Amino acid sequence: MLAQQPEVEAGLFAEVESVLAGRLPTLDDLAKLDCVRRVIAESMRLYPPAWTIGRRAVQDYSIAGVRVPAGSLVLVSPFVLHRDARYFTEPLRFDPDRWTPEATSARPPFSYFPFSAGPRSCLASTSPC
Ligand code: HEM
Repeated sequence: MLAQQPEVEAGLFAEVESVLAGRLPTLDDLAKLDCVRRVIAESMRLYPPAWTIGRRAVQDYSIAGVRVPAGSLVLVSPFVLHRDARYFTEPLRFDPDRWTPEATSARPPFSYFPFSAGPRSCLASTSPC
């Protein structure tokens, strides 16, 4: 995605050069690497590593009026939701500026969930976006 958008790539490298100046990053640097954060968030929007997440219904259940018999497999797909134009205008366009605090807070919370959500969500997630 960066190769297709040289101006985003240049901004990313400029930030890394300015913040790190050739040294390895530390935890304290993360807050200063805002462009890096936005580029990673936007990459995981278009290409979520876990593109679908499944749960098996252990008993009969109902979701928004839809009957889910025991044993059913229920799938939710970050890949599909992340490309939904209701939440992301021009969804196929790679645009790290979707991840400014203002733009992020204007979207519903579960429109973006590369680390899943709820009690079994990824332990490694710090919900950067
Ligand atoms: C880009 C990197 C990663 C992505 C996109 C990712 C994504 C996910 C997702 C979607 C789930 C939930 C699966 C589900 O609900 O069925 C999950 C669970 C989990 N992840 Fe990650 N993960 C990443 C990296 C990591 C790392 C680095 C670790 C550990 C150091 C980790 C540890 C776990 C664990 C332990 C769970 C299971 C949590 C539970 O079942 O209670 N993940 N991850």
